[in-house]
Amino acid sequence: MKFRDPIQTAIELDRADPLAGFRSAFVIGNPDRIYLDGNSLGRLPVQTRQRLHDLIDFEWGEHQVEAWKDWIGLPNRLGAKIAKLVGGGADEVLVCDSTSVNLYKLTMAALTLRPNRNTILTSSDNFPSDVYLLQGCGKETGRKVQICEPEDVLAQITEDVAIVSLTHCAFKTGRLYDMQRVTERAHECGALVLWDLSHSVGSVPLDLNKNGVDLAVGCTYKYLNGGPGSPAFLYARHGLQEKLTNPIWGWFGQKNPFGFSLEYESAAGLQRFMTGTPPILSMAAIEGGVDLILEAGMDALREKSIRQTEFLVDLWQDHLEVLGVTLNSPTDPASRGSHVSLGHPHAYQIDQALIKEMNVIPDFRTPDNIRFGVTPLYTTFWEIAEAVLRMRRVIESRSYTAYANEFSSVT
Ligand SMILES: Cc1ncc(COP(=O)(O)O)c(C=O)c1O
Repeated sequence: MKFRDPIQTAIELDRADPLAGFRSAFVIGNPDRIYLDGNSLGRLPVQTRQRLHDLIDFEWGEHQVEAWKDWIGLPNRLGAKIAKLVGGGADEVLVCDSTSVNLYKLTMAALTLRPNRNTILTSSDNFPSDVYLLQGCGKETGRKVQICEPEDVLAQITEDVAIVSLTHCAFKTGRLYDMQRVTERAHECGALVLWDLSHSVGSVPLDLNKNGVDLAVGCTYKYLNGGPGSPAFLYARHGLQEKLTNPIWGWFGQKNPFGFSLEYESAAGLQRFMTGTPPILSMAAIEGGVDLILEAGMDALREKSIRQTEFLVDLWQDHLEVLGVTLNSPTDPASRGSHVSLGHPHAYQIDQALIKEMNVIPDFRTPDNIRFGVTPLYTTFWEIAEAVLRMRRVIESRSYTAYANEFSSVT
């Protein structure tokens, strides 16, 4: 046993936590409700609530269309802030559309730069939406999509590969790719790389510039706490931007939208990846969460995230492994993002019992993953210890058998 009294240990770790004060920057509601799903939908920052009130009451309510003079620059202003989290230049990141749509735009744009290559390479741990989009792009352009195992990615990058598209932190297991090695290998073979950063932005430090990354996309509603369905971001490096064409031509990507010309002429730089009117209400909700991460600092957040996921893994070993629960995430914290997946043959039923009886909110991913998202801005060590002990109670008492093994529409 690593910890004789996990709750007492957790309380002491929380007391000594230099980031503990950030929890009060979020709407917590019921403190006994243990929310470990910030890797799916981040909590609501207090300042976002105020920002949206102001936007609705004053900017929209009082200023109406005049407010567009300020709103129009929001995709770029937010992009410049997110750029600091991903290691890009201020004009290399733009906030627009969804992750899925941005992946489509960048993939189609990249494929036109490699006209004589026939393969789009991805991996079996990629998010299904990404794979569907790549398959759609493959169909549209006559390319084949090769899905390899994660450990085979480096070996599968050949001279026929036009683009390597991977999710940096795997959604089921939290496993991290070596961004630098994959990017270097792709470039050695003349391929472009496109990373999906949805589970890594705000959870692990990133340096797209330093790693020579060509293209990236990512979402803002997980670790960035931007709210349900908040718009995504895209990244294209300097030197590549001017060579890319957005496949979805719209007036916001036109050189002079308010010139209302009937000829499409692409805007300069990344602006060309805009298409239509940005959704200002949901876009404005992103800023408060990003500001909190910038204030805390990615290195400090990563340090706490590793301590917390290690704590969770240690507690799994002390309390859950003997009950048949497996660790489905990498054991080495350097190869893991900020969520830990625990497996069990009755994972879905246990997940349901945790939510309905125990006030613990993880999520479930097929076939057997209960994902615990650690969000160091607001997750406490106490919550982690309680979640593990409550899960032990569910398994020991077999209370999970009361729940059907039929998945609901959202898991
Ligand atoms: C890694 C990853 N990529 C893409 C998506 C899809 O994002 P969206 O539905 O916002 O387009 C998700 C959604 O959770 C995701 O986890």
